[in-house]
Amino acid sequence: MKLLIINGPNLNMLGIREPGIYGDQSFLALCEFIKKAVAEVGAECELYQSNHEGAIVDKIQEAYGKFDGIVINPGAYTHTSVAILDALSAVAIPTVEVHISNVMEREEFRHRSFVSLVAKKTYMGLGFEGYRRAVRYLVLGKE
Ligand code: DQA
Repeated sequence: MKLLIINGPNLNMLGIREPGIYGDQSFLALCEFIKKAVAEVGAECELYQSNHEGAIVDKIQEAYGKFDGIVINPGAYTHTSVAILDALSAVAIPTVEVHISNVMEREEFRHRSFVSLVAKKTYMGLGFEGYRRAVRYLVLGKE
């Protein structure tokens, strides 16, 4: 089983960025955490990060026929991007949405998620652990 793990804008700034909200671990640490979680369930993954909406759309389109599942933290595009929603709908690859913080307990503009409309499941407020649960959900059908 091949998973595409997508992290959107500013997630490359983990460790530097608002540590009170996102913690003090780096993006590199997140990547290592995800690789371990994927290896634990005997799957393979490609990790992708971009700060650009169109690049994320391109990556989702390229995933068609190549990946069995997508884990995506779309960052701020979660709350704005119909284009990312449409790309995920177009490829119809099972998708799980992750947020490090609990967006429902933050500003109201973060409460709406376009990606949630197509995601099979959403994990939020669990820090890195949300990615592990997402991987397990896609591969094992349970957390
Ligand atoms: C985030 C939450 C978003 O609202 C924010 O714009 C991010 C990160 C999270 O992981 O908690 O960039 O997706």
